[in-house]
Amino acid sequence: MKNPKELAGRAAAELVRDGMQVGLGTGSTVHFTLVRIAERIHDEGLRILAVPTSEDTLRKARELGIPLVELGRVERLDLTIDGADEIDGRFDMIKGGGGALLREKVVASISAREAIVVGEDKVVERLGVRFKLPVEVVPFAAPVVARALEALGARPTLRKTAAGATFVSDNHNWIFDCAFANGIEDAARLDQALKRVPGIVETGLFLGLAHVLFIGCADGRVEVREKK
Ligand code: A5P
Repeated sequence: MKNPKELAGRAAAELVRDGMQVGLGTGSTVHFTLVRIAERIHDEGLRILAVPTSEDTLRKARELGIPLVELGRVERLDLTIDGADEIDGRFDMIKGGGGALLREKVVASISAREAIVVGEDKVVERLGVRFKLPVEVVPFAAPVVARALEALGARPTLRKTAAGATFVSDNHNWIFDCAFANGIEDAARLDQALKRVPGIVETGLFLGLAHVLFIGCADGRVEVREKK
């Protein structure tokens, strides 16, 4: 049986066209996109310039021979391909399970088209029921932000590494993973409220940013959905 992440990740790589400037997302699904893009560069002579959304993707892209360009040298990206932790029927998402939410959101914000690659288990009715919402914070502000998160109805947990140390993002910040008793009722309102808290750098709510969704299914199909 094929891995749904691999099916979705590879299928979305076919969106890449010669001459494009492409954002490269982060995570285990996008990993397969990177591999397929590298194959196409090798086999078809595909010429692209790519902006990675994390140090992890930067390293993988370099190893695979995908040509990179600094964010400061591009104004717009033609296409970004990224993963998600949850995505709902409106294509609103929770992202940041891998800790790359800030750079992912910056790259998404300058992308003409954002393609999302997921296994079918990531498609949900309501955000935040199963997956905790990552919120990136400046370390100095963490105790203040934790209280503000609780006041907004969240149960925040400071993210740790497998070794038990505090997880530090590529931007030298910390991440609170926020549980909500019944999921997130109004994602736009919550996002606005979170952005008003001093010390919160970015939230894992990606609202209105995705255009096309590739869902890898356990039966070997890839379902492609365009935003209505
Ligand atoms: C990285 O911080 C995340 O936003 C990832 O895009 C997301 O966690 C998807 O990861 P997987 O493809 O590994 O499930």
